[in-house]
Amino acid sequence: MSQQAGRQMHLVGMVNPPTSQYAENWRDPLGRSDWLSGRFYADLARTLERGCFDMIFFADALAVPEDGDGDYGTTLRTAGKGSIYLDPITTVSLAAGATTRIGLGATISTSFVPPYAIARQLLSVDHLSGGRVAWNIVTSTTDAEARNMGHESIDPPGARYDRADDVVQTVIDLWNSWEPGALVHDRESGLFADPSRVHRVREELRLPGAHGDGVADGLSRGPLTLPRSPQGHPVLMQAGSSPRGRAFAARWAEVVFAVGDSEEGMRALREELRERARVDHGRDPDSIRVLQGVQPVVGWTDADAEAKLRMLRNRIDPAEALVKLARLLHADDLDPQALAVDVLAAHRGATGSMGFEDMLAAVSTQRGFTVADLAIEQALNQLHPQVVGSPATVADRLGHLYLSGAADGFIVFPALYHSSFEDFVAGVVPELQCRGIFRTGYTGATLREHLGYRLH
Ligand SMILES: Cc1cc2nc3c(=O)[nH]c(=O)nc-3n(C[C@H](O)[C@H](O)[C@H](O)COP(=O)(O)O)c2cc1C
Repeated sequence: MSQQAGRQMHLVGMVNPPTSQYAENWRDPLGRSDWLSGRFYADLARTLERGCFDMIFFADALAVPEDGDGDYGTTLRTAGKGSIYLDPITTVSLAAGATTRIGLGATISTSFVPPYAIARQLLSVDHLSGGRVAWNIVTSTTDAEARNMGHESIDPPGARYDRADDVVQTVIDLWNSWEPGALVHDRESGLFADPSRVHRVREELRLPGAHGDGVADGLSRGPLTLPRSPQGHPVLMQAGSSPRGRAFAARWAEVVFAVGDSEEGMRALREELRERARVDHGRDPDSIRVLQGVQPVVGWTDADAEAKLRMLRNRIDPAEALVKLARLLHADDLDPQALAVDVLAAHRGATGSMGFEDMLAAVSTQRGFTVADLAIEQALNQLHPQVVGSPATVADRLGHLYLSGAADGFIVFPALYHSSFEDFVAGVVPELQCRGIFRTGYTGATLREHLGYRLH
């Protein structure tokens, strides 16, 4: 299936410094170290806005990742992914103030944050940014996160997604609790808001919750203390890749982040999600945009880019990479020569994310990885597909994936902040624009408009 004429590729930049999908980013001698300053994020957002990106997106987790014994030493010592996370809503608010057009994605967990708080935080910043916000819906995956949020352990994936269904429905109901036009603000007549157009979400609450925590089953009575935003309400995005995660995406997601291990796999997933959205939920298949994660390594020429990739790879210490993989898999130690698929099977469930583990196993099988290979690849790009070459080569590859229906666009994982984004914006974006498959300027003001959606 090819793309419809007139459509444009969508681009999202993923941000979670000081770590990136490349484990050694924080040691880059030319990299910035002011990642706890507002300037760092404002500059990133402005760079991506200069490149007409649809969105800058802030990842999150609620705990420093631990090994199987609850020790976070390895993570902190090596700047493992998740060692530092600023609160995404706060960071998105700052990025909103530094920009005027680019969309702003914030991650919030459905497992621990009450839906009223989720709805209000996101809709607040959606108003403040003029309708540019998206919610990356995550269920959290680890016991460490549960313990930071007052729970003993994380629920199994099925229960987490059940709760996420309840929470998302309630958040949407709260966003819709004010009908369009409910805020009248008529100084003459003295009518501020029309109560007949502002509704409760539920009259009855089921307390304490069936989830056993007294948090009311993801329910809220409403109404919210906010009317609709310039784009109606924030865009919903999600990255679940397990079967249950995909069912969730087909039901709710307007943007899906996927990480495919092959072009065929990407195309099959996009078609599956579009079909399930249509058949299972009566949705228009064009109301779901499937973006594939890629790590671009861009040079002036293909040879330059290959040299840059070698440089990135050479900076990885194999012994350190092995220690990090053992931490991820909750293994005491790992035999570097063992077959990666066998070791992954023996530690099934350690990461809390079945979809991610399936992806590790699929790539390890395809490429015949030993544990040592897997450790290096994990440190290099977390097994996300790399696109390496000159701007024209990278644009050709992304253009092919887009035009052949493998993706509606891409989530760009930078290896290095800020240089990977700067290289992409300066080199690849103009090449995509020349090919007529990416916007040369924003045509709308809201994120929904960038995505080609109607305002809600
Ligand atoms: C691009 C991308 C970004 C993600 N960002 C986050 C994040 O910020 N926080 C988080 O807890 N999980 C994040 N995840 C993990 C997903 O929410 C999800 O748990 C994972 O893809 C596995 O799917 P599953 O939960 O259905 O097994 C991300 C995944 C991808 C592919």
